[in-house]
Amino acid sequence: MTETDAMAAAMIAPAPSALTGDAVRLVEVGPRDGLQNEARYPDTATKVELITRLAACGLSAIEVGAFVSPRRVPAMADTAQVVRSLPSLSDISLPVLVPNMTGLEQALSVGCREIAVFVSASEGFSQRNIQCSVRESLVRYQGVIEAARTAGLRVRGYVSCVVRCPYDGDVAPSTVVPVVQWLLEQGCHEVSLGDTIGAATPAHIRALLQACATTLPVQALAGHFHDTYGMAVANVMAALEAGVRVFDTSVAGLGGCPYARGATGNVATENVLYLLHGLGMKTGVDLPRLVQVGDFISRALGRDSASAVGRALMR
Ligand code: HMG
Ligand code: MG
Repeated sequence: MTETDAMAAAMIAPAPSALTGDAVRLVEVGPRDGLQNEARYPDTATKVELITRLAACGLSAIEVGAFVSPRRVPAMADTAQVVRSLPSLSDISLPVLVPNMTGLEQALSVGCREIAVFVSASEGFSQRNIQCSVRESLVRYQGVIEAARTAGLRVRGYVSCVVRCPYDGDVAPSTVVPVVQWLLEQGCHEVSLGDTIGAATPAHIRALLQACATTLPVQALAGHFHDTYGMAVANVMAALEAGVRVFDTSVAGLGGCPYARGATGNVATENVLYLLHGLGMKTGVDLPRLVQVGDFISRALGRDSASAVGRALMR
């Protein structure tokens, strides 16, 4: 029996649930959100190997890097080399983060087909993260999104601090909804709701999604939950019950955000897969294989996997 066969045998069979049969799309953000905040980040070849191995697990979307200021986020400085070095992954969406026109030009110059833009619902985080107010960021992004769409790129949107800001404190759903709406109106195909510091509980996620659903299509929303307080899987469950079917996850629970001190990584891809498959939901992703990728990148970084499922299945 191979190691992946043994892992498959160790997994619990799905129990019938109201969600059985539903399809969920995962956006693997480990190579970007995960690695941007690792104290020791891997070299370009290891990043390319990570992305290639992730693609082989059946993921349909992998965020591969960020064209941001290399002085602010050194771990993403080699994004152009990463994109250029990737093998042909034509059926996979490979977005890159872009903060401004400079970033868009870099993305276009290496042939990216999809970008992700990121704004904050709170002023404090916007100033620290991208050095401008929320309003200024929207003005800046209007031109970027228009230029990207004119060039035929798909644009994904992020809103950070949808529940709590590390600088301004609690953020009300009524502050978040207009920012999400603005991104959708600009032509973002999807907007991901970022609990940047992982402070939300399921009650916050329910309230936020209820507020969103009054004016926005829930199919255009994604959940992006960091796991600082260990609530992220519970928050995924709350979002599933509210109709969300897209989640951003990070292999081995890598990462955090350099401008959100104390925030840990995204919810681990392995943990979310175990939840979804246990609910009988379909992802198209091979969990045992993904666990091996988590082990690969954890070893490359010289740290333990932050995924409880990854550690359990590697035993
Ligand atoms: P700024 O200092 O206001 O920029 O930073 P500027 O336009 O004044 O330029 C300053 C220098 O940066 C210049 O170089 C520019 O050329 C250069 P210099 O003349 O000094 O040598 N520059 C760039 N270089 C490379 N790529 C670029 C670029 N733009 C300017 N695109 C800026 C403004 C937005 C650039 C900066 O603040 C920045 O890069 N911020 C990004 C921070 C970041 O990446 N944060 C993490 C990602 S967001 C996140 O993790 C949250 C998320 O996961 C969702 C969630 O969890 O909530 C998405
Ligand atoms: Mg994030």
